[in-house]
Amino acid sequence: MKLAILGGGGFRVPLVHRALLAGGGVTELVLHDVDAGRLAAIERVLAEQAEDVSGAPRVRTTTDLAVALSDVDFVFSAVRVGGLRGRQLDEQVAAAEGVLGQETVGAGGIAYGLRTVPVAVGLARTIAELAPRAWVINFTNPAGLVTEAMAAHLGGRVIGICDSPVGLCRRVARALGIDPATAWFDYAGLNHLGWLRAVRVGGEDVLPRLLADAAACESFEEGKLFGADWLRALGALPNEYLHYYYFAREAAGSESRGAFLLEQQRGFYAEPSLASWERTRLEREATYMAETREGERDADDLDGGGYENVALALLRAIAHGERTTLILNVRNGSALPGVPGSAVVEVPCVVDANGARPIAAGPLPDHALGLVTAVKAVERATIEAATTGSRAAALRAFALHPLVDSVSVARRLLDGYVAVHPELAYLAR
Ligand code: G6P
Ligand code: MN
Repeated sequence: MKLAILGGGGFRVPLVHRALLAGGGVTELVLHDVDAGRLAAIERVLAEQAEDVSGAPRVRTTTDLAVALSDVDFVFSAVRVGGLRGRQLDEQVAAAEGVLGQETVGAGGIAYGLRTVPVAVGLARTIAELAPRAWVINFTNPAGLVTEAMAAHLGGRVIGICDSPVGLCRRVARALGIDPATAWFDYAGLNHLGWLRAVRVGGEDVLPRLLADAAACESFEEGKLFGADWLRALGALPNEYLHYYYFAREAAGSESRGAFLLEQQRGFYAEPSLASWERTRLEREATYMAETREGERDADDLDGGGYENVALALLRAIAHGERTTLILNVRNGSALPGVPGSAVVEVPCVVDANGARPIAAGPLPDHALGLVTAVKAVERATIEAATTGSRAAALRAFALHPLVDSVSVARRLLDGYVAVHPELAYLAR
């Protein structure tokens, strides 16, 4: 079985490779990237990591997309258009306007989407042409809107993934003292905009028990982040990214994650080795969302164990027909009432050899549906701008985002992003 990783020189690729070493049936791994230097660095880490592992997949690198896609069974798409420098600029332009520049939420997410969608759509078209039977697992952020743009060319063959819902479910299970394998997690929304509404064990919803216990509630990341009284008032557990909405005033303009990671990774790519990769990775995990947290993260939250495990579970379910349930980004169909059928949503799906089908999820409460509807409209305006070159659509995306509070700000954001990002030349006046 052949797997191609697009963005194969990316920093998190060794995590995927590590998961492949533990099983899954991939015999050939091809890393594709536009940057040969980054590919060489990652190749070196993988070689060290596979030393003495029998049955490790054969690894090749290439800058030729056609080579990567020839006879491929699975494609992991994990590109970062504009690199971490682009992420840093996304944050800076937003900070200058006092709004959020986060890579997936708010103005920063729109800018990143405007840069990424043209590239992702190009990849989707090429895959549809050169590898029409391949399954595409999209890691590329902003994952919900990028998956939706790719689905226009790949239909149900592209599935978007994220580690945050499964991380939330795992932490909630731990706080409740239950085995996650025995529970049903009623999670629904969009990527980085979802809520865990119930946790059913043998027909009983045990989430109210957790919400009633302030100490248990504040024993894990999301609980600490939102505070027990707000979670009780809300009656659900939001994805950690909802922090940017529920505490918008505190969060706006405060991040400099792109700059930090850029500097951190410069060291690794200059002198790549398994040891320096592991050091760099641990520091990255330890500082994730640090500006929203007091004190250190739990050791259990540092293993990674996120994206790569979701991706591998998905690959196995499709490749070997091992039916399972995973929270994934797929077209809604009729799973979430009130959300368009063609909109990509993040919900539990049944996965088997035929792909991923969303499970009927039951309606979102009004406050959640309102936010989902507003943000989906922004995502769709972003896709429209990126696929047609419409400045009006791009302005609508910025101005209609709930975290951008003025059309004047939206105009300046659009001009500011076009000025710093060469990839946005298509939106220049
Ligand atoms: C989580 C999110 C991902 C995001 C990552 C950012 O895992 O689910 O979508 O890419 O955080 O982490 P970073 O270390 O790049 O800030
Ligand atoms: Mn994510």
